[in-house]
Amino acid sequence: MTVLTKPEVITTIDELQGRLCLAKQNIAAKGGDAHVVLVPTMGALHDGHRALVRRAVALGQIVVVSIFVNPLQFGVNEDLDTYPRTLDADVAALAEEGATFVFAPHTRQMYPDGASTTRVTAGAVGSLYEGAARPGHFDGMLTVVAKLFNIVEPDVAVFGQKDAQQVFLVERMVADLNLRTSIEVVPTVREDTGLALSSRNRNLDEPARTAARSLSVGLTAAAAAAHGGVPAAIVAAHAVIGASPLVKLDYLVVVHPHTYLVVDDDYRGQARMLVAAMVGSTRLIDNISLDIP
Ligand code: PAJ
Repeated sequence: MTVLTKPEVITTIDELQGRLCLAKQNIAAKGGDAHVVLVPTMGALHDGHRALVRRAVALGQIVVVSIFVNPLQFGVNEDLDTYPRTLDADVAALAEEGATFVFAPHTRQMYPDGASTTRVTAGAVGSLYEGAARPGHFDGMLTVVAKLFNIVEPDVAVFGQKDAQQVFLVERMVADLNLRTSIEVVPTVREDTGLALSSRNRNLDEPARTAARSLSVGLTAAAAAAHGGVPAAIVAAHAVIGASPLVKLDYLVVVHPHTYLVVDDDYRGQARMLVAAMVGSTRLIDNISLDIP
C-alpha cells in the first residue's frame, strides 16, 4: 500500500514563506536542487488541474499549489459566490499528486484593505475576447498572479493551455515586467468526448453537457479544414457549433500566436482558434492550434 503524505495546508503569507525557506534549506543541505514550482488555481480541482500538478512535481522538488478564488477577477454579475469550494477533496487529490504545500489564503490575507488599489493592467489584448465579455477580468487575474509570484518566488509557474488568452497575458506580463518566474504550459485535458475539463462543467445538465461537446468537435473540424485557409477553418467550426441549439456562440476567432490579434483571411502559419459560448446558463471556453499551410 502506498502511504500518501498530505501536503501542508497553509493560510498565511508569513507561514508559507517560513516553510518554503526551511524546505529549501533542507533540500540544499542534502545537496539537492531546491526548485520551487507554483501551480495557481481557484480550487474545485479536476484532472486538468492534476495534470498541471503532475508536471510541477516533475519540474521541481517543492511544489506549491495555491487555491484562491480571487474576487478581483470576477465581475459583479459573475459566479464568485457560487464558485465551487471543495478544499478537503482538493487537498486529498493534491496528496495523490505529491504537492508539497497548499496555499489557501483567506481573502483578507491577499487583500487586507478590501482590494488592492494598484493593479497590473493587461493592455489592449486584455479587453478582447474573454476580456470583452468580462471587463476587468484579466487585470484582476494578472494582479493576483503577480502577487502570488511575489509571495512564493517560484522558479517556474505552471498554467493550462485551456485558458489560452490567460497564458498569453501571463507570458506577456513576465516579459514586460522582467519577472523571474518561467512559465510552463500544459496541454488541455479533455473528457473522452473531447469536452475540455472545467470546474464549471459541473453546472451542465445532461442536455447541456452533450451540447457542450460541439465546441471541441467544432475546433477539431476547424483544425482539419485549416489546410484550406482561415475562412475554411472558421466555416468548418461554425457548421458544427451552429448546429447545436443549446449553444449560444459569443466569439469564434483565429488569432496570431505572438500578438493574439485576429489574423487576416489570407494569413498562413501557426495560429490559434479561440471559442467561447454560453451552453445553457454556463459560459465555456476552448481553443485549438491551427496550422495553416
Ligand atoms: P482555474 O480556473 O482554477 O485554473 C487553474 C489552472 O488550471 C489554469 O492554469 C487553467 O488553465 C488550468 N486548467 C483548467 N482546466 C484545464 C484543463 N482542462 N486542462 C489543462 N489545464 C486546465 O485559471 C485560474 O484558475 C485563475 O485565473 C488563476 C490563474 C488561478 C488566477 O486566479
